[in-house]
Amino acid sequence: MSEFTNTPLLEADSLHKTYQMGAVNVPVLRGSSMQLHQGEWVTVLGSSGSGKSTLLHLLGGLDTPDPGCGEVRYMGKSISSHGRRSRNRYRNREVGFVFQFYHLLPELTVIENALLPGLVGSGIRTDRQRALELLEAFGLNHRLNHRPRELSGGERQRVAIARALVNRPKVLLADEPTGNLDEQTGQEILDLLRKEHQAGLSIVMVTHDQKIAALADRVVVLNRGQVEETVSQASSAFSY
Ligand SMILES: Nc1ncnc2c1ncn2[C@@H]1O[C@H](COP(=O)(O)OP(=O)(O)O)[C@@H](O)[C@H]1O
Ligand SMILES: [Mg+2]
Repeated sequence: MSEFTNTPLLEADSLHKTYQMGAVNVPVLRGSSMQLHQGEWVTVLGSSGSGKSTLLHLLGGLDTPDPGCGEVRYMGKSISSHGRRSRNRYRNREVGFVFQFYHLLPELTVIENALLPGLVGSGIRTDRQRALELLEAFGLNHRLNHRPRELSGGERQRVAIARALVNRPKVLLADEPTGNLDEQTGQEILDLLRKEHQAGLSIVMVTHDQKIAALADRVVVLNRGQVEETVSQASSAFSY
């Protein structure tokens, strides 16, 4: 049993997702369920192609499950029952997304990238002070007016994390955030995430790397389209 008993912060309930490849149906998620409680860090471990990114996209409202086949609930309420505006709000404000390949806009500067969630017609005014504080905390003060191509991989991912956190989301969804970085730089990114987690951020991270997975409070395994629970880990797993 989990130590948490109240409503999960974020929950995937029996998600099915099938991709259409020409005439062929490719079922990727086949009834995937998982829960994230307030303050938890859950890592989803799975091999390449197992559907980790698909699951994360559904959790973040970037994509939808097969019609009528499962739902994502945020604070107990289905995100698909929301209208478009409310879904946008969910995507922009309640969750933050970090991708393996950063997905920064190349023509924008660091500070502009970090402020992006407030620029894209979301109706949300991004807090410039908050963006500056995050970038400073992430050691990017001297990079504010640089373009992504002038940055190292680790710096780019730190900008992407600042962008993901600028609207103070409750949940960070991180898709192999260290997958494109060398071990040392990846470790720095994980350290930074750990600090945010300790400050209250709930995290779902996906990875194919067992060693990285072991840093979480709890690891679940995505296998054949279903999420299998593993034995709970002590939070002290962080003392690496
Ligand atoms: N938009 C898509 N259209 C068709 N097939 C897709 C699409 N996205 C992912 N897939 C397929 O679904 C499977 C799972 O993909 P993905 O969720 O990216 O896995 P992972 O992130 O674990 O590597 C893969 O076989 C992939 O080729
Ligand atoms: Mg992936």
